[in-house]
Amino acid sequence: MRTKLVAGNWKMHGSLAGNLGLLQAVRDGARGQAEIAVCVPYPYLAQARAVLDGSKVAWGGQDVSEHAQGAYTGEVSGSMLADFGCRYVLVGHSERRSFYGDTDAVVAAKFAAALKVGLTPVLCVGETLAEREAGITGAVVTRQLDAVLANSGVAAFSRAVVAYEPVWAIGTGRTASPAQAQEVHALIRARFVSDSAEIAAGLQILYGGSVKPGNARELFGQADIDGGLIGGASLVAEDFLAIHVAA
Ligand code: PGA
Repeated sequence: MRTKLVAGNWKMHGSLAGNLGLLQAVRDGARGQAEIAVCVPYPYLAQARAVLDGSKVAWGGQDVSEHAQGAYTGEVSGSMLADFGCRYVLVGHSERRSFYGDTDAVVAAKFAAALKVGLTPVLCVGETLAEREAGITGAVVTRQLDAVLANSGVAAFSRAVVAYEPVWAIGTGRTASPAQAQEVHALIRARFVSDSAEIAAGLQILYGGSVKPGNARELFGQADIDGGLIGGASLVAEDFLAIHVAA
């Protein structure tokens, strides 16, 4: 049985004053069986650590540089995230891929950089609406996975998480149906089976895209859905905790 994971992705939201109550409420209210984490904006990592340290709630970053250090103005390295006690870091979120030009190769390099410093990368993959309508969802997701597999190898996924996030479901209120999500999750797991049945069986594959308290249980009940990556609903403690309990 794989442990489930519910991870919040705050994106570019929050303030020192506003975060405090949210972090405390999540820390104090986390009663679910699943693992739980929040990925906060870089400036709030110290605050997340101060509030969450010693609790069952882990924390992480939303991106990481592919470089270890150097003249890369504005970038944040994996060792910096590790310095602040991060366990997780998102890599290849569709907003990074589409707004900031993160190619499959860059995502693969970021994944490797995260692993190198002991962080658990959460590799995000997913198709756009046009790609789904063109019938190439499987090809797109496989291409995104293959770039990372070619660079880091299948064994790296014993220390990584995959998140399937159909771009058309992110922040739109339009969730993939449990059957649609399960179909892609099964395809993702099958891609790993061909390299290592053992890694495939243990791999946590999260679903992300408009997960809410009302649809979480059915999604997480699917055979290959091992929890969720939660955007909007992770900003409301009550909703995020309800989703955690559903996992
Ligand atoms: P959403 O975002 O839950 O607001 O759709 C998910 C994500 O982008 O990780």
